[in-house]
Amino acid sequence: MKYHDNNLLDLDRKYIWHPYTQMKDYESRYHILIKKAKGMKIYDHRGRYYYDTISSWWCNILGHNIPRINRSIKKQIRKFEHVLFAGFTNENAVKLAQKLVEMAHPALEKVFYTDNGATSIEAALKLSYQYHQNTGIRTKKRFIFLDNSYHGDTIGAMSVSGASQFNNVFNELFFKAYNIPSPYCYRCPVKKESSSCDHECLLPLKKLLKKRAKEISGIILEPLIQGAGGMIIYPASYLDKLYDIVKKYQVHIILDEIAVGFGRTGKMFAYQHSGIRPDFICLSKALTNGTLPLGAVLTTRKVYNAFYDDYPENKTFFHGHTFTGNPISTGVALTTLDIIEKKNLLGRVEGLSTLLNDLLLEKIKDIEYIGDLRQAGLVAAMEIVKDKQKKRFFPEKERIGWKIYLEGLKHNLILRPLGNVVYFYLPLTITPGEIEIITSKFQDVMKKVFY
Ligand SMILES: Cc1ncc(COP(=O)(O)O)c(C=O)c1O
Repeated sequence: MKYHDNNLLDLDRKYIWHPYTQMKDYESRYHILIKKAKGMKIYDHRGRYYYDTISSWWCNILGHNIPRINRSIKKQIRKFEHVLFAGFTNENAVKLAQKLVEMAHPALEKVFYTDNGATSIEAALKLSYQYHQNTGIRTKKRFIFLDNSYHGDTIGAMSVSGASQFNNVFNELFFKAYNIPSPYCYRCPVKKESSSCDHECLLPLKKLLKKRAKEISGIILEPLIQGAGGMIIYPASYLDKLYDIVKKYQVHIILDEIAVGFGRTGKMFAYQHSGIRPDFICLSKALTNGTLPLGAVLTTRKVYNAFYDDYPENKTFFHGHTFTGNPISTGVALTTLDIIEKKNLLGRVEGLSTLLNDLLLEKIKDIEYIGDLRQAGLVAAMEIVKDKQKKRFFPEKERIGWKIYLEGLKHNLILRPLGNVVYFYLPLTITPGEIEIITSKFQDVMKKVFY
């Protein structure tokens, strides 16, 4: 069979079921066939380009198609592609583990590799659970999570994620976990104003731990930004307050840095804006600049030691994935981190973030349907409301996000609103000129959709 762009699109429609996609929406339109990508731009088969304003699901921290990353793949592939990671190791995996430990909190000394985000969450939950089993605190079997959180689509990750359109249907498969309110300041769950807020939304956590700490293995949360739950950005002081409450109990703090890690908020890890001391951090996405699948869980020596014993004691962590520690992926991660460091990309974030905020404020000032603009570093989110005064949502059937997505494509922007929240998740390498172009195009999109 001879392949060309049009029959590839027909074959896509014939054979492929795309993720998070109502395939019926594609009855009358094709998916976009990507031919190349460079920096912030991706190009389709018709020669159209799009600014990837969401970093391809929050991964690319350096933009697309980075020559040094491509060279690191070639360098490794000349030696070998993959060897199992139990009983065997490889240079890139070792060097990356050392690097991650150096970058994180000094208490985090051990790295457990996984394949992606959800598998990092599964591993962290199981490690926390088994830690308590291994140390004889057998009652600690439950986890606490935040409303509006998202930790992945596997059953364990969904069990500790907030209820949503994504996971509701699977509800009866979930293991039991406790939820606490989300620090959703725009729609404060305890009806406070930011001027008088003392993080009262944490009171339920206080009460829950007082009553049930002996049941609780860990609390899991996304530091600073609840991503898929609606880009809910909250102050670092919330993390400090949460830590103050949790540290009195033997309860693990599991931080999901999968979306926010590696500089997007201006620090290497988002939790570093606070003084919180995690027991686990889960990583993926930008770890390889989104080039290849890889995840990792960092944890403490204390946790590690609880599994370290003579084999017959049965304390081993019997968990792993076929591609664990893959030398090509870990090589790419090393290169990604080296570029972030050598180019001092974290040093760029503050200035770019201010510019993004200034431009957005100017561009959206006449758009009465934006109820809230929230921002952390190079992540900016806007909540679309039908009525600003009452903060009323657009009805779901109006599919406002879908309309914005389609109009965005016409204006060379990839925008993938989360419900009624439209957002930018920009790479650290973006230029001021690109921010200017993207925000102007965004203004055009919004005017077209709403006026
Ligand atoms: C905060 C967070 N945790 C976990 C995941 C799951 O990652 P993956 O899609 O690689 O399984 C995601 C994905 O978007 C995420 O944003």
